[in-house]
Amino acid sequence: MEKKIALIPGDGIGPDVVAEAVKVLDKVAEKFGHKWSYDTVTAGGCSIDKFGKPLIQEELDKCLKSDAVLLGAVGGPKWDNLASELRPEKALLGLRGGMKVFANLRPAVMFKQLKDACPLKDEIVGDGLDILIVRELISGIYFGDRGTAADGKSAWDTERYTWEEIERIVRMGFEFAQKRQKRLCVVDKANILNSSQLWRKVTETIKGDYPDVTLSYLYIDNASMQMVRNPRQFDVIATSNMFGDILSDEASQITGSIGMLASASLGESGPGLYEPIHGSAPDIAGKDLANPLATILSAAMLLRYSFGLETEAKAIETAVEKVLDEGYRTGDIAGSERDAVKAAGKLVGTKAMGQLVVERL
Ligand code: IPM
Ligand code: MG
Repeated sequence: MEKKIALIPGDGIGPDVVAEAVKVLDKVAEKFGHKWSYDTVTAGGCSIDKFGKPLIQEELDKCLKSDAVLLGAVGGPKWDNLASELRPEKALLGLRGGMKVFANLRPAVMFKQLKDACPLKDEIVGDGLDILIVRELISGIYFGDRGTAADGKSAWDTERYTWEEIERIVRMGFEFAQKRQKRLCVVDKANILNSSQLWRKVTETIKGDYPDVTLSYLYIDNASMQMVRNPRQFDVIATSNMFGDILSDEASQITGSIGMLASASLGESGPGLYEPIHGSAPDIAGKDLANPLATILSAAMLLRYSFGLETEAKAIETAVEKVLDEGYRTGDIAGSERDAVKAAGKLVGTKAMGQLVVERL
């Protein structure tokens, strides 16, 4: 297979972790007889420095012309004081909206090797956590009408959803549930919000197409509580942009492995956007300290969802598991075992971790 992958290293540790994912992708190409070409895209803080804006059309076009996009991270304190339209985060919204990737898949998986890092009690976690959050990504309050009154004394942002926008994301939730444990929970605030009531109406209208899936609804406040009280009740969660943003941070934290979690953003057609869930961690940028595994696992998702290469994706995931089984850790996942890991010579940096995965492949 021959494909073009757009790389957005971005800011902070972004370039560090993307470099390791590229090593892994190259190894996959060599091993399975594929050919990738790469196009590097400037977006985020580095784009503000270079072009005066977080994302310019030419760079977005490079993404649209590719077969899939792999992003490291954007943002950092250097750009924190800019007006909101100019902040690096706007590059993310520009990419998401521009690429029309309406479905953001955020798996919250607990790696058994890292169980010690999970902040919940053993009896709550049981034999592990595996939740898939399907977050709507290009509508709702993030993209609705907003403004600030002329006198600066009031400001507003609008949550607005169309039937079509809701239907496509909820259908995606149902479809993923069918491939997993067949449970879908739609999270909303239907006791207050009209838009949430529409989510329920749409869901009720289409649920008959998925008779094998057990459907439930939770209000966002209750869902946040259930996430720490009994997270194993969840299989797939489908929710709006804002609720998905909040809930996915909570879910990632309870797995104890935020440095390990990947994500995929998909549209109806066109390239998907893949990125680690963690941020740009500017304090450790360029120091060979960042954990590249979330980006490497994002590359696995890219092969699976954009190129249909399940075997290759699995091969990367298995290689990551092997490296963890052998006891190798970057600082963020060494946890309370840090001294022992170090004494065993298995506390490794970004590059060594990437290299280990390449070798196990
Ligand atoms: C995320 C981030 C972004 C979001 C920010 C940086 C705009 O928190 O990807 O979850 O809110 O979507
Ligand atoms: Mg977020």
